[in-house]
Amino acid sequence: MNKLQKVVVRAPAKLNLALDVTGLAPNGYHEVDMLMQAVGIYERVELIRSAGYALRCPGSRVPRNDKNTATKAAAAFFYATGLLAGAEITVHKVLPTRAGLAGGSADAAAVLVGLNALYGARLPLNELCRIGLEVGSDVPFSILGGTARATGRGEKLAPLPPLSGCWFCVVMPRGAGVSTPEAYARFDEKGSPVHPNMEAAEAAVRKNDIAALLPHMQNALEHANGGTETLRLKAALREQGALAAMMTGSGAAVFGLFREEQAARAAAEALRPGAAWTAAAPPVGHGAQVLA
Ligand code: C5P
Repeated sequence: MNKLQKVVVRAPAKLNLALDVTGLAPNGYHEVDMLMQAVGIYERVELIRSAGYALRCPGSRVPRNDKNTATKAAAAFFYATGLLAGAEITVHKVLPTRAGLAGGSADAAAVLVGLNALYGARLPLNELCRIGLEVGSDVPFSILGGTARATGRGEKLAPLPPLSGCWFCVVMPRGAGVSTPEAYARFDEKGSPVHPNMEAAEAAVRKNDIAALLPHMQNALEHANGGTETLRLKAALREQGALAAMMTGSGAAVFGLFREEQAARAAAEALRPGAAWTAAAPPVGHGAQVLA
């Protein structure tokens, strides 16, 4: 059998359609309850069989050191499988960092799925998710994708039926993004006046009832971490016709939900001049996947 020399993987961004913080675990992680949605904006990762290890991130300023989630994922994969091998990895970054879009997690997920295919390791998805959790709380979701309710520190995933009949416009504000530990520290300080009704949100998603979902689209991390730009961009999204607008994850990106693709695309165009980055995308029903 011919050995694979190269694989290309794409891994989608995630949005939190609802996010609540429900407690603090003894290990310092916060207990969360989240509705996760993969959307069609992709990190693209190429992996080439190699004895040594190399990482490239062309056009991106993300550090290529051992803090990079792609490197962490590769190290965790080779440790877990015992394979004495390496890879030349090229991460084509599309997603902004410190955005709450799980861009770093998508890179890690793509590396795990990619190395599994490249080396024919045949690790099952649950094992890839277990390894992924060592890299970050959102990596298991980035591997599985689709629509899911996530609890624990974000790793306990209950898949939900795919969401359809809507589009999203995602906007990254200018200025500094938000790091996840900072976001949780600020939450501990300031708390949240909102706690979304997660049962109602899940019930709405199960029926693909967008109208019923709208009032529950809230993020408990937003009060402590959102700033004036968050408010301005949410208002701008609503002006463009968004039925709901909120911050995703620990921020700083915000997104609006639209019924029509055209409206989401028009909003992304309209908001681009006043933002660091914008994109329009539909919900997608998959996670990291091998393309070639
Ligand atoms: O798991 P991840 O690497 O994304 O987490 C980064 C940091 O964010 C953690 O070290 C922790 O400070 C915080 N965090 C948390 N509760 C979670 C997820 C992350 O407190 N559920």
